Amino acid sequence: MPANRFNGLTDYGVGIGLRIPHYQHILSRKPVVDWFEIISENYMVDGGRPLEVLDQILEQYRVVQHGVSMYFGSVDPLSREHLKRLKTLARRTKTPWLSDHLCWGSVDGRYTHDLLPMPYTWEAVEVTAQKIRQVRDFVEVPVVVENVSSYAEFHASEMTEWEFLNEVVERADCGILLDVNNIYVSSKNHSFDPFTYVNSVPAERVAQIHIAGHSKFEKYILDTHDHPVLPAVWRLYARAIERCGPTATLLEWDDNIPSFDEVHAEALKANKFLKAAAEAQPEMATAAVEAAARAMAGHAAQAEPARTGAAR
Ligand SMILES: [Fe+2]
Repeated sequence: MPANRFNGLTDYGVGIGLRIPHYQHILSRKPVVDWFEIISENYMVDGGRPLEVLDQILEQYRVVQHGVSMYFGSVDPLSREHLKRLKTLARRTKTPWLSDHLCWGSVDGRYTHDLLPMPYTWEAVEVTAQKIRQVRDFVEVPVVVENVSSYAEFHASEMTEWEFLNEVVERADCGILLDVNNIYVSSKNHSFDPFTYVNSVPAERVAQIHIAGHSKFEKYILDTHDHPVLPAVWRLYARAIERCGPTATLLEWDDNIPSFDEVHAEALKANKFLKAAAEAQPEMATAAVEAAARAMAGHAAQAEPARTGAAR
């Protein structure tokens, strides 16, 4: 696949999220890590410890910004103050792209602080795409949008989630952060084939992939980010990079965070798939990636952690 402005940064390899419990380890041990993803909102401040740490990280590592509060799908106008702070941070980090979620989360200036699923309507396509363009034009960095996990759907929807994603990114002319764990979680909650979703994504727009762990409850699956990646998600990941080629990959681990080495080792399992995709001849790609998926599934031969009880 020819490189373009979305999928051309294939040398990014495998990154992990920069998290406070690991600050000390990273700054003192300086481990070799391809790149770190930061939550933009944690560093959109005027000074203090977060920026001090970030500046030390930037001396040695590549950093990519990931946002959690842009709410591209909300009808509220974008906050100019928020965009200014985001742009200031982007200039500091030199992030190659900016990601945030394809969701809504605010009404009339009141914020839910949650990533709520969109109604998949044509009207929402237009509103969302316009806001993505506004952010890109203001911050002057390529924007990529991430599919969220969801637990509810709207009767008003006029298309599937993957059709909605396709329409939004075409109209916005933006990239995609494909979260294969979110696809898997939603596929179980809403009874669709996750491979249909992955197979429908415009591969030439996928700039980054998220992998993560989830938890299985009695009647639904929850996107908990507190486990190693499960075999079913590795299989989806394998299919995604088979279609997209080697793609910047990020392991999300946000709760019950283990040691840095444990998180990093889990993330580096993705390298097996990335190498298979990079080295295989086109006609061999499918077999090579499937072999890696089988090896990974055997390595991680464990049942999905079954739990009962309420979600947090
Ligand atoms: Fe994600």
